[in-house]
Amino acid sequence: MNAEMQITTRHLPPDEPGVAAAAGILRSGGLVAFPTETVYGLGADATNVHAVAALYAAKGRPRFNPLIAHVADSGAALRLGRFTPDALRLAEVFWPGPLTLVVPVGEDCPVAELARAGLPTLAIRVPDHPVAHAILAAAQRPIVAPSANRSGHVSPSDARHVMDDLGGRIDAIVDGGPARIGVESTIVGCLGARATLLRSGGIPRARIERVLGHPLATPAPDDDRPRAPGRLASHYAPRQPLRLDAGRVEPGEACLGFGLPLPPGAEAGLSLNLSERGDLSEAAANLYRHLRRLDSLTTRGIAVATIPAAGLGEAIRDRLARAAAPKGDSAEDGHGHSLQI
Ligand code: TXA
Ligand code: MG
Repeated sequence: MNAEMQITTRHLPPDEPGVAAAAGILRSGGLVAFPTETVYGLGADATNVHAVAALYAAKGRPRFNPLIAHVADSGAALRLGRFTPDALRLAEVFWPGPLTLVVPVGEDCPVAELARAGLPTLAIRVPDHPVAHAILAAAQRPIVAPSANRSGHVSPSDARHVMDDLGGRIDAIVDGGPARIGVESTIVGCLGARATLLRSGGIPRARIERVLGHPLATPAPDDDRPRAPGRLASHYAPRQPLRLDAGRVEPGEACLGFGLPLPPGAEAGLSLNLSERGDLSEAAANLYRHLRRLDSLTTRGIAVATIPAAGLGEAIRDRLARAAAPKGDSAEDGHGHSLQI
């Protein structure tokens, strides 16, 4: 598909005929957005290099940024890569669920090299969502599914966001309502001696460390691994500047709150609260919807209240920090967890 060509994007219901249609389109090389428990994914047949190329074009995603292969169950996942004991343990406890494991690619892995951006490793995930599961089971092959946004934009947590970003560029969207978790999967690299946290996400770090019995490593900023795996900081670039950990809201600013009371000054302008009761799961589920909404307004900027770093707060703070980073800053951030969102 030519990236500039407009096509008609079909809306499919999340029922049996919708799932069958979605799987049929995927099997014939088309692009279908579908719900997962984290965010909406844009699916393509991982074994079809033309479909994978069309996916990169539709998202405007640089081809050096590899994709996650999604499969219906752990059995299918284990056939794609070589799992260390740590990887096996994490797969057993957290799949299906919001965890992506990066492992050395298996010998007969059918995933197109383009989907891995040429790396000797593969990111694999088994989503925990009935519609995603049904589509993957019917497709009967790994499906690459990056978040269904234009590259550099914030991830979509409902079908409307997907339509705003990719309508006219993809074949279909399966509408399964709002995403339950709202931030992307946690990505853990299981390549060497010690499992490494590559991206914070839907499963808090502490739960993973409890299962492993030891802390997750943080990638060294200057290690010599390929730069491809999202080591470039690519930020959702809101039109409005974001001010984090704001103790008060300045005149003309909108407010993204967490808990009550809102920071002083919020009463004067528009404010949205991630969670009035200060619940981090609720905040994650609201994050991208509220960011999109506030960014559509004309304000001087967005003051963001302090979000605690515990549990899901680590992922929420990570995404907000990227959204707040200066526009056009595409340098490596040196902290090792600067995967593209
Ligand atoms: O929750 C999620 O993970 C969603 C849903 C749709 O499943 N998907 C998602 O995909 O967030 P994407 O493409 O937006 O983010 C995947 C991240 C990228 O930062 C990419 O660089 C990294 O995973 N990645 C993929 N393959 C990798 C590899 N072999 N090594 C290291 N990082 C990898
Ligand atoms: Mg993404």
